[in-house]
Amino acid sequence: MIGFSEGFHDAAVAVVNDGKICYATHSERYSKIKHDKHLDITAASTAQLLCHDGKIAFYERPLLKRTRQFFAGQKAWRRPRHLSLKPTQYYSHHKSHAAAAFQTSPFDEAAIVVVDSIGEWDTTSIWTAEYKDGKAVYKKRWSQWYPQSIGLWYSALTKWAGLRPLDEEYIFMGMAAYGKPVNMNVVERQLHKYNHKGARLGKYDKCDIAKSAERILQLELNTIFARAAQYSKHICYGGGVALNCVVNTGLREMYDMWIMPCPGDAGGALGAACLAYGGKVAFTPYLGYNIQKFCDPRRVVDAILEKKVVGVANGRSEFGPRALGNRSLLADPREASTKDLVNEIKKRDKFRPFAPAILEEHCQDYFDMPKQSRYMSYVYKCKQPRAIPACIHVDNSARVQTVPEDSESILRPILECWYERTGCPVLLNTSLNIKGKPMVNTIGDAKLFEMKYDVTVF
Ligand SMILES: [Fe+2]
Repeated sequence: MIGFSEGFHDAAVAVVNDGKICYATHSERYSKIKHDKHLDITAASTAQLLCHDGKIAFYERPLLKRTRQFFAGQKAWRRPRHLSLKPTQYYSHHKSHAAAAFQTSPFDEAAIVVVDSIGEWDTTSIWTAEYKDGKAVYKKRWSQWYPQSIGLWYSALTKWAGLRPLDEEYIFMGMAAYGKPVNMNVVERQLHKYNHKGARLGKYDKCDIAKSAERILQLELNTIFARAAQYSKHICYGGGVALNCVVNTGLREMYDMWIMPCPGDAGGALGAACLAYGGKVAFTPYLGYNIQKFCDPRRVVDAILEKKVVGVANGRSEFGPRALGNRSLLADPREASTKDLVNEIKKRDKFRPFAPAILEEHCQDYFDMPKQSRYMSYVYKCKQPRAIPACIHVDNSARVQTVPEDSESILRPILECWYERTGCPVLLNTSLNIKGKPMVNTIGDAKLFEMKYDVTVF
């Protein structure tokens, strides 16, 4: 069965056959339009070729959504939406998020928390789910409706800070490390307003507002998670707000939690496919376009040792916003100056940190963390910041990716070879993309990247 999402932002498509996710990709990787809201024709056709049974599930209920658009005074309610594929079934937006979280999780029963901006009406919801005769059965236990919305509130603050809402929330999140939580009252008041009209906060320091927002978000989610924890000790968490890795870390300390690494609306496509299938699916993040070519890890490491920043485009591209080794730029993390080298290529804000990828068995030597964190969903304090200064944030934290022995990614043999040669099990890892563009997808994209930046892509 096919699941797809489109029409708002981050259109995506996924195929599940017999409990296996055969394909999942963001539309933007093909169309090259960042956060593309339309489903790309190549992505859609690939999904149709791979799908065994012709079932096509959409991640929203369009009619219900139009009632909300009518209520909100948005003109969009007048136009029926054109969809790139013809759905055979529809599921609600939050149920699609819930299924993407639960059916990919290691749990057989769980409470599910979904927090996002807006789908049809729900903006925050709590579900329970269990398998009966191998099929997931969901019950909605609680929900909050538009216009109350934690996601819209956070996006409104992002916009207030001069950033693009529904895109640059991650930059606003990174700014929090430079601020103090001194404006919590102002930020909280904004949360309880009809926040879709935008935030009017006056002249406060942006980093202080970012830090205050982080604290308020943590407090709000603590309350919601406590409510969910009444139903199960396992919690699955989805919706775009689950991309806030700082807040996620606070929650992980308290709960046995699973976050599918593509928890936003693109992940809703996988959720819809999961709902159409019904059962548990085996999860891997490497689900997109496949670049099949030989890559010698020793050559990659040779180049990094020559102080070069190198690209890797190998195997299936990642589903989700983070590069996890198959579409990555890698560099030596042991000198702070590496940051400038990578920044020259990526042209990003100087204050934003790069992330470390580490051999999983060594992660607790370098970070104060549990035994694994494979999808960059959490941040942890570094125990040896002087050893790897290029991938540590100003507050000594890092968004760690642990790479296990059985990883499918080429990143594992590269890290092993790097460790053998240097004694350091860490590499700086950031996404392989031309500035302002989505991540490299095909070999052709990789060649373009090489030409533009003079960086070898293996
Ligand atoms: Fe959503």
